Amino acid sequence: MSPLGLFSAGKYTVVASAFSDTRFGDKTAGGITLKGVSKRYAMVTALTEVDLVIPPGSIFGIIGKSGAGKSTLLRIMSLLESPDRGEVYYGQERVDTLWGVALRERQRKMGMIFQNFNLMASRNVSGNIAYPLEIAGLHKSYIRERVEELLELVDITDKRKARLRELSGGQKQRVAIARALAVKPGVLFCDEATSALDPLTTRSILSLIRELREKLCITVVLITHQMEVIRAICEDVAVLNAGQVAEYGTVRDLFANPRSAAARELLHGDGRGFLGQGIVEGETERSDGDE
Ligand SMILES: Nc1ncnc2c1ncn2[C@@H]1O[C@H](COP(=O)(O)OP(=O)(O)OP(=O)(O)O)[C@@H](O)[C@H]1O
Ligand SMILES: [Mg+2]
Repeated sequence: MSPLGLFSAGKYTVVASAFSDTRFGDKTAGGITLKGVSKRYAMVTALTEVDLVIPPGSIFGIIGKSGAGKSTLLRIMSLLESPDRGEVYYGQERVDTLWGVALRERQRKMGMIFQNFNLMASRNVSGNIAYPLEIAGLHKSYIRERVEELLELVDITDKRKARLRELSGGQKQRVAIARALAVKPGVLFCDEATSALDPLTTRSILSLIRELREKLCITVVLITHQMEVIRAICEDVAVLNAGQVAEYGTVRDLFANPRSAAARELLHGDGRGFLGQGIVEGETERSDGDE
């Protein structure tokens, strides 16, 4: 069934009302709807008629093999690229047609983290976190306070003056998360954010993301090729295959009863997964000493 079909039925009636949930305030911007999104690059069809509904405040997984179109979809959702066809909505607002100041304003309300962290080697930890606040032209004293707050949020206060080369991969990703959240975005996009990390560090970063979602009421869109990551943290998931949504639903349903060949292929060999059961069952405590 198409995700948009689900929108007015079952759990998605709940989703629809979540769009007007006052808890989210301006963060209604965090609910994302894609309708018939297609994208082509020269001879390559990257996405075909993608329909998705990402509830505000959820942790939504998008999984697929290499080349399935995940990053393209993420760039379209984060308004870094326009679709050739189709529509993108944040809450009730159509956003794929935004441009100029309105587009930049909207882009400032989202954070992104990547596999390779994308931090600036010329700046220390605090300098990296401060960067988006400086770009936004905020006052120095506010920036100082906000950076402290963010260091605490991601639990790296002792590294505030450290150079990047002195950090582990997990610590670098914590810096990247702090930087992404600096301007208080409504949505955090994660493109293979744990793919370069070992299993234990992956687990602690996923735990942190989950904690932040609870604390800040943000929406998290998480792209990965690892089923274990989806199982550990996501509530809903879309399986992308050759630019199309092969399957869409709850993570529990996907694992219990994968309906598409693409999902079965991704699940094959996963076994119980290397991250274990803890996070899935609601455990939020961090495993320390893992980075
Ligand atoms: N800027 C571009 N120019 C040309 N082709 C592109 C461009 N970006 C993506 N593609 C093509 O679109 C398809 C989807 O690419 P995309 O990067 O979205 O896949 P992905 O699922 O993120 O893969 P991976 O897991 O390897 O990161 C691929 O065939 C890719 O070669
Ligand atoms: Mg990619």
